[in-house]
Amino acid sequence: MKFLRHVFVMAALALYILIPRIEAVKADGPTQELINSICIESEDYELCNKIIHKNLKAPATNLKDLTYIIFSIAIEHASDTYIFIGNILRELTDHEERVGFNICLNVYSEETAIFLDVRNEFRHKDYERMILDISSTIEILKNCRVDFGIPPYMENPLIEKNRVMKILINMSTVSGRMVKNGNASLLSSLVSGLDSFFFQYLTN
Ligand SMILES: *[C@@H]1O[C@H](CO)[C@@H](O)[C@H](O)[C@H]1NC(C)=O
Ligand SMILES: *[C@@H]1O[C@H](CO)[C@@H](O)[C@H](O)[C@H]1NC(C)=O
Repeated sequence: MKFLRHVFVMAALALYILIPRIEAVKADGPTQELINSICIESEDYELCNKIIHKNLKAPATNLKDLTYIIFSIAIEHASDTYIFIGNILRELTDHEERVGFNICLNVYSEETAIFLDVRNEFRHKDYERMILDISSTIEILKNCRVDFGIPPYMENPLIEKNRVMKILINMSTVSGRMVKNGNASLLSSLVSGLDSFFFQYLTN
């Protein structure tokens, strides 16, 4: 009896700790506008909006924090899918299916690595390379072909994984570009400021 009570208390405690973290944070007005401007371009607005809200840490989140969140979600989805494919591969015996899934395994390994780079480039404000790297991920994803089914799944489970990855790449491109363009004016004024500094230096 004592043991059961112990289990009950532990379960209640676990729920108590977990529930506040499961609840989605509600975005404030300007943050929701930002989210809208990212998701409006998405082929699945609802999913885009839901994914962001699930990972939002505060009601007021600026573009840079949103972009960081989106890159982190992309990393998580890519690495989760990599593990998912690894688990499927362990049970597959058919040669052709194995070849197909191995290609996808490599694709998601690359997607994970590139998005880790993207997040680093973002941290270092290397926006040019960041945008280039993001656009390379959409080409790489195309190599993971999913036009075959596998038992016990009726449909290839990677169809949905790829769809979500594509949407995350799209979201990354849109918010990444917004960050880059939002800072382009700052960057150019800095450059022209330097130019005039050197001009003065040379003419003096
Ligand atoms: C995002 O996806 C939409 C819908 O598929 C597409 O029209 C748009 O061009 C994409 N944007 C980018 C930056 O890839
Ligand atoms: C551009 O960079 C500045 C300084 O690093 C930053 O404060 C600002 O939020 C950035 N703009 C956008 C749109 O992210």
